[in-house]
Amino acid sequence: VTTQPAATSAVRIPVGDSYDVLVGSGVLGGVSTLVADAHTVAVVHSPAVAAVADRVVAMLGRGRLLTVPDGEAAKDLAAAAELWRGFADIGLTRTDAVVAVGGGTVSDVAGFAAGTWLRGLRFVAVPTTLLGMVDAAVGGKTAVNTAAGKNLVGVFHAPAGVVCDLDVLATLPAAEYRSGLAEVVKTGFIADPTLLSLLEAEPTGRAHAREVVERCVRVKAQVVSDDFREGGRREMLNYGHTLGHAIERVEDYRWRHGDAVSVGLVYAAALGRVAGRLDDATADRHRALLAAVGLPVSYPRSAWPQLSAAMRHDKKARGDRLRFVVLEGLARPTILTDPADDLLAAAYDEVAA
Ligand SMILES: NC(=O)c1ccc[n+]([C@@H]2O[C@H](COP(=O)([O-])OP(=O)(O)OC[C@H]3O[C@@H](n4cnc5c(N)ncnc54)[C@H](O)[C@@H]3O)[C@@H](O)[C@H]2O)c1
Repeated sequence: VTTQPAATSAVRIPVGDSYDVLVGSGVLGGVSTLVADAHTVAVVHSPAVAAVADRVVAMLGRGRLLTVPDGEAAKDLAAAAELWRGFADIGLTRTDAVVAVGGGTVSDVAGFAAGTWLRGLRFVAVPTTLLGMVDAAVGGKTAVNTAAGKNLVGVFHAPAGVVCDLDVLATLPAAEYRSGLAEVVKTGFIADPTLLSLLEAEPTGRAHAREVVERCVRVKAQVVSDDFREGGRREMLNYGHTLGHAIERVEDYRWRHGDAVSVGLVYAAALGRVAGRLDDATADRHRALLAAVGLPVSYPRSAWPQLSAAMRHDKKARGDRLRFVVLEGLARPTILTDPADDLLAAAYDEVAA
């Protein structure tokens, strides 16, 4: 890790030996170095961050703008096909590059389009949401949604680099920022409890944005370097996501990802407790912190049959058994496989409103 001069106050975090994540204020210029040898650069962005994309294009002098729809509508095969058409029009060749400017939806679809065009073009992510910086843009997973479900189609395509310029978060709506904090809380519980103390001291997360992003990226970098294609340690990143995904499904994806994960974290803590693995104080700390941050910590009692069915559907899609990441203590994640129905329902009692 090289700390750069105070002017930019940036840190460079290596993800294995394949790429770096640059974190700091005013670091957008880092994109230039990452695409230095590309003749043409497609800059894919969502409408909300057109100004950031314009700055990237102006800086590169050879960037071509391509727009994707806002939000989940970007993660669609039709939107990916539009990008492929755009790449063809621009004449992108194997030595060119794609830069994604936007939240997790933009890095997912642009990464997918870049990873499949000519069997894989150089890809750089410029996340503009907190969730993108701490999670979606780091790790090399890309995806689009299909009628069969969310994120079922995608490729592993590691970026050449990720540039997290904290200045772009200034325009991010508060509810989106908060949603990203759910992944920060998750990372705190599974791996880095300092994140919990930082948010307990200042629940908006804004005062310590750089340290928060940096710590989350370090954890994700470590985990994905060890387990790029999943099957081992990477599973711990799913803490809170088994119920979280079920809520997203039941809500037909109208809930923010982080909001669903927040309820999922309270549930996972409760499950750890009722399974006799997690102490009361650590379990209670989940709800207290997530509530202080302003994230949802409960869900309707009547929804349990639907949620339970959705979790089983998810399991079927993965050809797997029902697996939950639970904690045996702070920063000690472990797997609970096929817990009994009464245990699952007892844990839901702690979430039900
Ligand atoms: N590939 C992965 O490993 C991974 C991991 C986690 C999540 N994801 C995916 O990420 C997606 C969610 O990402 P997200 O929460 O960033 O959502 P998003 O991309 O939809 O962005 C949220 C909203 O904020 C707006 N926005 C983005 N940046 C802004 C800015 N700087 N100023 C003002 N408005 C801005 C967007 O237009 C959008 O309306 C989901 O589709 C999820 O599946 C992927």
